[in-house]
Amino acid sequence: MGGTDPAEFLGRPVLDFVHPDYRDLVLARMGRVVSNGVDLAPMRERFIGLDGRVVDVEVVASTIELDGQPASLVSFRDVSERVREEERQRTIEARLREAQKLESLSLLAGGVAHDFNNLLMGILGNVELLGLEVDLPEPARERLRTIERIGRRAAELAGQMLAYSGRTHQELHHADLSRVVGELDELLRASTRHKAELELVLEPDLPLVHADAVQLRQVVLNLVNNAAEAIDHDQGRIVLRTGLAHLDGADLQRFEFGDRLSPGPYVFLEVADNGAGIGPENLRRVFEPFFSTRMDGRGLGLAAVLGIVRGHRGGVAVDSTPGEGTTFRVILPVSDAEEASDPVRPVPPPDVVQPVVPATILLVEDEHAVREVGATLLRRAGYEVLEAASGREALALHQEYGDEIALVVLDRAMPGIDGTETLRRLRERGFDGPIVVCSGFDKGDFDDIDGAPAAFLPKPYTGSELLRVVWNVLDERR
Ligand SMILES: Nc1ncnc2c1ncn2[C@@H]1O[C@H](COP(=O)(O)OP(=O)(O)O)[C@@H](O)[C@H]1O
Ligand SMILES: [Mg+2]
Repeated sequence: MGGTDPAEFLGRPVLDFVHPDYRDLVLARMGRVVSNGVDLAPMRERFIGLDGRVVDVEVVASTIELDGQPASLVSFRDVSERVREEERQRTIEARLREAQKLESLSLLAGGVAHDFNNLLMGILGNVELLGLEVDLPEPARERLRTIERIGRRAAELAGQMLAYSGRTHQELHHADLSRVVGELDELLRASTRHKAELELVLEPDLPLVHADAVQLRQVVLNLVNNAAEAIDHDQGRIVLRTGLAHLDGADLQRFEFGDRLSPGPYVFLEVADNGAGIGPENLRRVFEPFFSTRMDGRGLGLAAVLGIVRGHRGGVAVDSTPGEGTTFRVILPVSDAEEASDPVRPVPPPDVVQPVVPATILLVEDEHAVREVGATLLRRAGYEVLEAASGREALALHQEYGDEIALVVLDRAMPGIDGTETLRRLRERGFDGPIVVCSGFDKGDFDDIDGAPAAFLPKPYTGSELLRVVWNVLDERR
């Protein structure tokens, strides 16, 4: 108890050594021991040592007789170590619960977003088809454009939810982060012009990162939008900085996902603002999906950043001082590639609405609205279309039409026989034509199947994107 000699305790009231939080309780217990002469079960209390240190103790008391007088014998044991261990255990459990909560949220968000994507494709596809009508009066055309604009905004939100769930399609290339950010310069300036002055400090000779440039752009835009929204005065300033940092274990601990990362070189992106800042209570929650303090906020921006960063095996951290500003830092592991590889962009054909050659296309899609729009667009473009609502129907149609089928457009996520399995069985039955796989999630794994997909079409796709892919794939075969 911090003393050196038992004498130091003598003559002092016992309660002096009891932590103030426990004094009432101890007083009540002492009364019971003395008046009832009962023994008391062990109890946790806190004492204060002579040196002022707080000690967790376990106390038992029993009634004895001392010199013919009733007295209490109180013994206690220092259990600080055990209490600390229990607390550690509780923290671990709380973290695990939190991780499980986020995991189920991400499953939920991903599932809802997937269904939404399909519905939106149905809506936007029909809008697109209506737009092709020649004799549509101008006011109706105006309304159509409004529906389309709102639909695209909804698709954007669904996209953020998918990004958070980490189940989006990723196209990884060796990318130069400074270049990705630099190319956004104009867009960023346009979106922050009225709120803040924007400064880009981009390290010119960064090592490359293995990343999806489209998703990195989404990260930059989300962070800069948030920074601009946090600025409530007219001296607003947002600084974007890229660079290379060598991070050790302790540095990494400050990042979300830091405990999964190994020490080493990381490319970083920093977005700093001098806006309102974030109080400690909210600071812990900003990455939670649906957490928002803004009137028109959805709370998906940072959740999407989190999902994307996780998908890139990187980390993200936030520092903020209320009233002074906020800094977000994203780190990405350095790739060992020497040269940036850019996504191969298909050259758009001059007029995609013209069919290349008359060809029969098998369109496999379980969502009725999506299938209907796709089939109509393809037919308008002059193709023959066979429609299948499931893998089973697709296989039956292949049985019937065989080599007449020039191309299969195949949805990956379907109940029953899914896209991957349908592809495998089509190949087993000798179909060797091109197959275009579409999905709102990732590309899927076709590595162990002979006859890989000819192309991948991420959902939601527009009619012209569908036509372009079909055109390109068939063109390659000519
Ligand atoms: N740069 C920032 N400055 C202050 N607060 C921020 C900043 N970035 C994010 N936040 C806080 O985090 C919350 C969640 O952000 P986000 O996930 O992008 O959702 P939303 O922007 O829809 O609210 C915001 O509502 C805001 O409270
Ligand atoms: Mg936001």
